[in-house]
Amino acid sequence: MESRHRSRFTQPEIDEYAAAHSTGPDEVQRDLQEVTAAETGWAAGMQIGDDQAVLMETIVRAMGAKRAVEVGTFTGYSALAVARGMGPDGRLLCCDVSEEWTAMARKAWEQAGVADRIDLRIAPGADTLRALPDEEQFDFAFIDADKTGYPVYYEEILRRLRVGGLILVDNVLQNGRVIDESVNDENVEAIRALNDTIAKDSRVRVVMLPIGDGVSVVQKI
Ligand SMILES: C[S@@+](CC[C@H](N)C(=O)[O-])C[C@H]1O[C@@H](n2cnc3c(N)ncnc32)[C@H](O)[C@@H]1O
Repeated sequence: MESRHRSRFTQPEIDEYAAAHSTGPDEVQRDLQEVTAAETGWAAGMQIGDDQAVLMETIVRAMGAKRAVEVGTFTGYSALAVARGMGPDGRLLCCDVSEEWTAMARKAWEQAGVADRIDLRIAPGADTLRALPDEEQFDFAFIDADKTGYPVYYEEILRRLRVGGLILVDNVLQNGRVIDESVNDENVEAIRALNDTIAKDSRVRVVMLPIGDGVSVVQKI
């Protein structure tokens, strides 16, 4: 199978080399990739790459995270990585608006034996997050849904993140369009604004990684 380490910002040869020297997906993950490609058409490109999945599972595992939230679940690949990383006593809240795509996620989570760690809520992410109690304390979060919603997801999650906890924000480089001043569509504008906000936010430290479509790793301090 072709490499699914998908940095859009490194040379293809470097990407291949990195893929060959990183932990790859297992059978359950490959099955999910194949079903997603076969059944969702163009949308399959929304799934995170293998490099991002193994990075997320490793971070979650190393942190000992037990309470996590994701906005933007699709067919469940990123959630699978987080749920595995947390182990059997972890709990992951997943937010998405699509019954159809998340039905595939539920099947994959059953197959992987992690379904009982995941609470999937079908509603706009902002509504689900705003309805959470203020005293909710997440260790880890992943934001990967509609781009114009990111600022709300960031604020609602940050106020419920424990000190030292992490938020991973996906698609922060918008295929390189964040640095092209001639591009001003609403998704790129929303991401540029959030990137600027996070870089100046005294509540966090952040590093932006050029893997996939760009991932910011944000830590509450
Ligand atoms: C990029 S995909 C997520 C990919 C997923 N993280 C993965 O690894 O496969 C974005 C998802 O966000 C969902 N979405 C779009 N608008 C949303 C909203 N307002 N609230 C919650 N989810 C939303 C879409 O239904 C879609 O499944």
